[in-house]
Amino acid sequence: MDVFTLIAFASTCFLIFLKASTAIDSISPSEPLPHGKTLVSNDGSFELGFFRPGSSGNRYLGIWYKNIPVGTVVWVANRVNPINDSSGMLMVTTTGDLQLLSQNITVVWSANSTKAAQNPILQLLNSGNLVLIDGRDGNSGAYLWQSFDYPSDTLLPGMKLGWDLRTGLDRRLLAWKNSDDPSPGDFTWEIELQGNPEAVLWKGSQKYFRSGPWNGIGFSGAPYLGPDNLVFSYEFVSNEEEVYYMFSLKNKSLLSRIVLNQTDYTRQRYTWSEETRTWKLLTFVPNEYCDKYGLCGTNGNCDSTQLPACQCLKGFKPKSPGGWSSGDWSQGCVRNKPLNCQAGDGFIQFGTLKLPDATHSWVNKTMSLKECRGKCLQNCSCMAYTSLDIRGRGSGCVIWFGDLVDIRQFQFGGQDLFIRMSALELGYGKKQVVIIVISVMLTGMVVIGLLCYIWIKRRRKQGGGENEEMELPIFDLTTIVKATDNFSSDNMLGQGGFGPVYKMLIYEYMPNKSLDYFIFDQTKKALIDWQRRMHITGGIARGLLYLHQDSRLRIIHRDLKASNVLLDKDMNPKISDFGLARMFLGDQTEARTKRVVGTYGYMSPEYAVDGHFSIKSDVFSFGVIVLEIISGKKNRGFHHPDHNHNLLGHVWRLWMEERALEVMDTMLGDSYTVSKVLRCIHVALLCVQKRPEDRPDMSSVVLMLGSENPLPQPKLPGFYVERNLPKEEVSSSPIKCVSVNEVTISKLQGR
Ligand SMILES: *[C@@H]1O[C@H](CO)[C@@H](O)[C@H](O)[C@H]1NC(C)=O
Ligand SMILES: *[C@@H]1O[C@H](CO)[C@@H](O)[C@H](O)[C@H]1NC(C)=O
Ligand SMILES: *[C@@H]1O[C@H](CO)[C@@H](O)[C@H](O)[C@H]1NC(C)=O
Ligand SMILES: *[C@@H]1O[C@H](CO)[C@@H](O)[C@H](O)[C@H]1NC(C)=O
Ligand SMILES: *[C@@H]1O[C@H](CO)[C@@H](O)[C@H](O)[C@H]1NC(C)=O
Ligand SMILES: *[C@@H]1O[C@H](CO)[C@@H](O)[C@H](O)[C@H]1NC(C)=O
Ligand SMILES: *[C@@H]1O[C@H](CO)[C@@H](O)[C@H](O)[C@H]1NC(C)=O
Repeated sequence: MDVFTLIAFASTCFLIFLKASTAIDSISPSEPLPHGKTLVSNDGSFELGFFRPGSSGNRYLGIWYKNIPVGTVVWVANRVNPINDSSGMLMVTTTGDLQLLSQNITVVWSANSTKAAQNPILQLLNSGNLVLIDGRDGNSGAYLWQSFDYPSDTLLPGMKLGWDLRTGLDRRLLAWKNSDDPSPGDFTWEIELQGNPEAVLWKGSQKYFRSGPWNGIGFSGAPYLGPDNLVFSYEFVSNEEEVYYMFSLKNKSLLSRIVLNQTDYTRQRYTWSEETRTWKLLTFVPNEYCDKYGLCGTNGNCDSTQLPACQCLKGFKPKSPGGWSSGDWSQGCVRNKPLNCQAGDGFIQFGTLKLPDATHSWVNKTMSLKECRGKCLQNCSCMAYTSLDIRGRGSGCVIWFGDLVDIRQFQFGGQDLFIRMSALELGYGKKQVVIIVISVMLTGMVVIGLLCYIWIKRRRKQGGGENEEMELPIFDLTTIVKATDNFSSDNMLGQGGFGPVYKMLIYEYMPNKSLDYFIFDQTKKALIDWQRRMHITGGIARGLLYLHQDSRLRIIHRDLKASNVLLDKDMNPKISDFGLARMFLGDQTEARTKRVVGTYGYMSPEYAVDGHFSIKSDVFSFGVIVLEIISGKKNRGFHHPDHNHNLLGHVWRLWMEERALEVMDTMLGDSYTVSKVLRCIHVALLCVQKRPEDRPDMSSVVLMLGSENPLPQPKLPGFYVERNLPKEEVSSSPIKCVSVNEVTISKLQGR
């Protein structure tokens, strides 16, 4: 008679396991596993035996976690052939096959192992892998057969999802039909073998979700799962022998699994919580609108921060404008200007994308990006190209043929993609640049005219001759020529929004040049100790507070950076270069621009990506400057051998690991107080948080810097991963006042 024990209740289902009257540690031809016994792994973490799922009367042979009170089956042998009575026996045959019998005679399931074997034994490894070992192989790690090669609905750490190309074995997950029935449903997860292989979730015969191709660090469609996860590490191998994805746990005592859920068509990752004694749902996909495969049709781009989410890629227009505007995006987008292979096409660079479906793709692991471009131009059906691996400066080549499907716009992460455009389309781009230049010149002339007018009016009012009372000293040309040494480049401080800026001219005399001149220079940084740096930080904070709050009009600087902070002879900072500043009237707190102008590394995500600027985008830039002052390193261009984070990401990591002091400029010696430094870093991290509403305003920042009151914990910073943006800065010079894509266009002109 069977003795059942109720092991667990889960929310919707419970599993009944046979009470393990005896647990054994291996099965051999002379010792089969009858129902009533179980096979247990060495460390007691997994158990193999017979179970009944949910309210089903059927019995299955399966593997489950032994040490947790929630019955969780991770593998089932006879998924489609249940045993309908209380019999059942697992046998290892003398020839090295594995057979599950009912009534002692009917084979309901077999491993079909055909390798010749001697003294085979079956063992359950600590990983949850059930392995059939040839007695001659011992612990060599060679198996006649292993359950990890035939997954059910669960991916465990160390288990490969994908292909062994030598044998043609395809390891894929198939969901249970429902919690009562482990037979395969129609929800599957597998690696698609194609030019650039990628993992795909299928709902029946429809593609349902892609994670995007692997880019050396992660999947281009899952930027939130960085490589620096503290709990997991990921691996994607693609070579002549194997193509697979695998995850492992950094702490082997944790439990984590990925499972397909047919009920709500999601792929879920759970980790076991010892505290609550339950499985915690950590992540799942698809989890948002833009995850839906091909939502925006061909050549569409899904951006969940936009309304509507679907946009045509730049250079494309809706194929059926009527349908598109009514929210039917299935027709997708077509080119504004057809490609003309012979006449010479070019490319537009797009950033932070989930790369398109790689079904029709081609890969070369050694080509450079430039060779890749050439390769794409050679073939008229090539639509786009990018680097295969984004680590370091990027390497390898992927090219796409035909329409681009399932592209998604991220705010950060993702990848660059170079999409082919006809010369006509790019020509249109050139015209745009010319228009911008002309309009900027016109605006400049109007502004200068206006300034002259005001100045002349003022001068008349004051009746001349009273220069001492005037706010700005006036120089005649000879003085200026002399002061600037006939406009020699030695005396040039920098190139500003309206032209070069020379010593003495326009600005108050700032003998000490600008902040970047000191903090990023190996020898000069020694001149500014911790006290001075704090003095400068406080000065910038108060200056910004004045602009945001105390001046009559609210002024958003929009291009705050170390090189725009000038230092006078007493090292007092002055914020300069208002070439891009905007004034806000009355209660206006934010605005939006189509033309994102500023400097990478200092721009907040909402400004760089959506053109939203507000006092909070200045606060972000301020936070970056503070971290640069403390570390003596530039945010943009920051490199660390262990990760691809920029300075913000680096500080954030160290902060989370309570090692924040390590970011300090080594030049600072011991001129500082630990608590003050930590407070500064803390405030800076609050300033660079991703969401503008989380960032403090400048009046709070000034208070925070000056007090000892407790501070809130900072959240994830914005733009903490260095993006593959154009190498040079987008300077504040209006001639280059263009968005990322247009920069590429203006560079293309030289072709
Ligand atoms: C169990 O299955 C066998 C073979 O499919 C069948 O002959 C038998 O009637 C079934 N028994 C029950 C109780 O359903
Ligand atoms: C199965 O075999 C065992 C021993 O080998 C025997 O005790 C049992 O009666 C058999 N059961 C059936 C249904 O034949
Ligand atoms: C073993 O072979 C049989 C007969 O070809 C087949 O029905 C069964 O699905 C195979 N078992 C496995 C685990 O592949
Ligand atoms: C599927 O997911 C839902 C909620 O996401 C959960 O309630 C249910 O138990 C899951 N089903 C299985 C079979 O795990
Ligand atoms: C691994 O996790 C366990 C349980 O959470 C914890 O007690 C242990 O300290 C962790 N080990 C390491 C090396 O982090
Ligand atoms: C990849 O590119 C390199 C350099 O251009 C070339 O030597 C090599 O043959 C290419 N490999 C393949 C498979 O095309
Ligand atoms: C262009 O690429 C397509 C797709 O790989 C291929 O079928 C075609 O032969 C290529 N054409 C040339 C000229 O290489």
